[in-house]
Amino acid sequence: MKKMTKALVAAPLVGAAGVAAYDLWQRKHALLRNFPVIGHARYLLEAIGPELRQYIVTDNDEERPFSRDQRRWIYASAKGQNNYFSFGTDNDLENTPGHPIIKQRTFAETVPSSADSAGRDSLLPAAKVLGGPRGRAKAFRPDSVVNVSAMSFGSLSGPAVRAMNAGARLAGCLHNTGEGSLSSHHKQGGDLVFQIGTAYFGCRDEHGRFSLPALLERIDGSPVRAIEIKLSQGAKPGLGGMLPGPKVSPEIAEIRGIPVGRDCVSPSRHTAFSDVDSMLDLVEEIADATGLPVGIKSAVGDLGFWEDLVSHMSAGDRGVDFITIDGGEGGTGSAPRAFSDSVSLPLRIGFTRVYALFARAGLTDDVTFIAAGRIGLPESAIMSFALGADLINVAREAMLAIGCIQAQKCHTDRCPTGVATQDRWLTGGLDPELKSVRLANYIRTFRHELLKLTETVGVAHPGLITVDDVDLLDGASGARSLREVYGYPMGWGLPSDADTEAITALMAPVNTHLSGHRVTN
Ligand SMILES: Cc1cc2nc3c(=O)[nH]c(=O)nc-3n(C[C@H](O)[C@H](O)[C@H](O)COP(=O)(O)O)c2cc1C
Ligand code: SF4
Repeated sequence: MKKMTKALVAAPLVGAAGVAAYDLWQRKHALLRNFPVIGHARYLLEAIGPELRQYIVTDNDEERPFSRDQRRWIYASAKGQNNYFSFGTDNDLENTPGHPIIKQRTFAETVPSSADSAGRDSLLPAAKVLGGPRGRAKAFRPDSVVNVSAMSFGSLSGPAVRAMNAGARLAGCLHNTGEGSLSSHHKQGGDLVFQIGTAYFGCRDEHGRFSLPALLERIDGSPVRAIEIKLSQGAKPGLGGMLPGPKVSPEIAEIRGIPVGRDCVSPSRHTAFSDVDSMLDLVEEIADATGLPVGIKSAVGDLGFWEDLVSHMSAGDRGVDFITIDGGEGGTGSAPRAFSDSVSLPLRIGFTRVYALFARAGLTDDVTFIAAGRIGLPESAIMSFALGADLINVAREAMLAIGCIQAQKCHTDRCPTGVATQDRWLTGGLDPELKSVRLANYIRTFRHELLKLTETVGVAHPGLITVDDVDLLDGASGARSLREVYGYPMGWGLPSDADTEAITALMAPVNTHLSGHRVTN
């Protein structure tokens, strides 16, 4: 009898030890490597979530920043799994104000593809040449309209940055370094956009001031395709970057030139320029020295800066090559709540105000517009393209693709999946090689679905979708087009005739020759 009791007690322990050993050995799930055995609870809850939610807690569309449905789409796309949903929408369409409706055309010259693989292997290039209008020596047409947004090494772990860069290489898209400089983790072969923040990490002199020679030295030998001067970020505009002390590891301290373990707070404003005039001087100086397209990233608040920029650019001799608009709903590794919630405009409002200023001055063809702010899902991205975005950047969606579970502990250095921490044990669970494939799958699938929606509307490229092609439901059985909501006259939001002709010709093989496969793991 005693023997039997012992066996009954031992069996679960042996079982748990076996599961723990497997969890530590496997490389697919960072969460299980970091939290053997107990990590399975999360997967179990995810699997039976829909059934549980029939009785308790939130529904599929309630959680923020990304709803359960949105995360499920990203996870399934990243894993190369079936990302379809069944039984029809669970959204209360007519009673949800602001819900977007993309309007399909019955007859169109661009025939929608029936192949599941359509566009998956196509790069879906930009409709504009970045730096082309200003004649930059290294102007280029980005291969992908979807790119990885700025996230510094520091806010992200080394393995996460490696996964992002290798994923960008596999997907043929750009990877923005973020303001924490360019580290060895960024050198996995993916094309880069080097970001210059207010602390000038990676491009500063011994007094912390911007140094052009230091910038040239830092980017030498790396596939940097463009330079982005960060003015502000949607989640914390008017505040400099903030890396909490626990995340300032010796490696990060060395790359940034700061003390280990101490909060790293960047200044709120630049010291290398103090107004639009001096900013444009710096833009031209960097562009001349590097040959690269140079742009700015900013959230939108007071419009004075933008009016000034338009007026200076109207003279024609100086100008930015691209403008990245970050919405107030954008993400961050850490920020005061009031800033994330209440400073700077949401993407669509901010973007359209800035775009309108450039459109009225006839300058939209000279600038590549990039949008960011929770638009890493096809229907949200389509709205941005309709409003005049040429490229879109994704940050948190890319984090989800490499394993983030939206635990929202990025500022504590206790990220359970190893994405946003410098803790050795936790980062050890994240396999960069495997996660890079997940990022690439997410971006490829995203482009594929963008292309499908584009074909549904009956045009050759997302950039050719107009503000008449998307309605926003008003929550009271009515709908208004994006044109009505944002007051766009005819022609706004579209590339020039020459750019339209060029991108339509480039897309012809994609729309007629449809083949491809998905990378799996
Ligand atoms: C962890 C994290 C780190 C970030 N670091 C930077 C940064 O260094 N520079 C920057 O301009 N934006 C930074 N951002 C903002 C993103 O680049 C992006 O603009 C914003 O999150 C909106 O995109 P999303 O909604 O796809 O996340 C960061 C965002 C996150 C989540
Ligand atoms: S899992 Fe949580 S802590 Fe880690 S990156 Fe995602 S939101 Fe941040």
